Amino acid sequence: MSLEGKVAIVTGSGRGLGLAYAQELAQQGAAVVVNDVDAATAAEAVASIEALGGKATAVVAPVGPTETATQLVQTAVDTFGRLDILVTNAGVLRDTVLWKMSDDDFDTVIGVHLRGTFTCVRAAATYMKDNEIPGRIIAIGSPTGQRGNFGQTNYAAAKAGIVGMVRTWALELKRAGITVNAVIPVAATAMTATVPYFAAAVEADAAGEPMPPFFRHDLGFGTSDDVAGLIAYLASDAAASVTGQAIGIGGDRLQVWSHPEPVVTAYHEGGWSVEALEAEFGDVFVAQSVGERFPALPEELQR
Ligand SMILES: NC(=O)c1ccc[n+]([C@@H]2O[C@H](COP(=O)([O-])OP(=O)(O)OC[C@H]3O[C@@H](n4cnc5c(N)ncnc54)[C@H](O)[C@@H]3O)[C@@H](O)[C@H]2O)c1
Repeated sequence: MSLEGKVAIVTGSGRGLGLAYAQELAQQGAAVVVNDVDAATAAEAVASIEALGGKATAVVAPVGPTETATQLVQTAVDTFGRLDILVTNAGVLRDTVLWKMSDDDFDTVIGVHLRGTFTCVRAAATYMKDNEIPGRIIAIGSPTGQRGNFGQTNYAAAKAGIVGMVRTWALELKRAGITVNAVIPVAATAMTATVPYFAAAVEADAAGEPMPPFFRHDLGFGTSDDVAGLIAYLASDAAASVTGQAIGIGGDRLQVWSHPEPVVTAYHEGGWSVEALEAEFGDVFVAQSVGERFPALPEELQR
């Protein structure tokens, strides 16, 4: 597999998962437009790619507004001549329970993740369609968007919304040969480093040691590099037939997520009145679980 001659944009790629994606895409031969709000990390990311013999440039601007999306596409075209791959990875968290979540907490997270994905994909897909490039769009979701998570109203809305948009865009861009997929990553980064449940894994990683198999295998929790291979694969010609999917990746684990399907279909001729529901709802209803379920941490991994 080679991405030689291809050009990619990775949003939020100054550090963490985005940096690993940018480095992997470059290592596979793509020229990369790095993006971040943090100028120093963006410059370091470009330098790290160039040090490996790759090609990269940086756009320091906040993802969300249309102007940034336009600037990203324009930079790819002006600097490297075209655009083939977009990874919408930039993200922030403003976690708190619903009754404490401010308008600003909600709007900030929706603005970067959901609006940022919308504006960047709109700009990239329009360019790819107009130039007949069978592009690759990879949007980043989260287990929280798939299952819900305590304290993450804003983030759950954004990430579930991203997967909803991915399904829609896969339909709309199919004729143009552009694939659109969601990747649902899990990895040790600044975003997850403070979660007590993952402490033993983060500790091992920081010490340069392999993470315990319980995390890598059972939880699908590993390093950013463990996620990057899937990004490069989906960006390649080999994945031309993969579109509209949500694919989970982390540690040693890969998961193909289902899309929501009705689990029960019941009919009541003439419609479901309150009386009909009172009489029959209990016979047909099957409750669906919410939230992620983690196994108990083995004693030696508790911190
Ligand atoms: N780490 C995980 O386990 C995990 C799990 C599920 C989803 N994700 C998603 O993966 C993505 C990357 O997460 P991470 O863990 O590497 O986080 P991170 O905080 O380490 O990195 C995010 C990067 O995005 C940048 N950024 C923030 N706002 C931006 C904006 N408006 N425009 C451009 N850049 C911006 C930050 O400066 C930072 O460099 C996010 O979308 C996150 O929601 C991460």
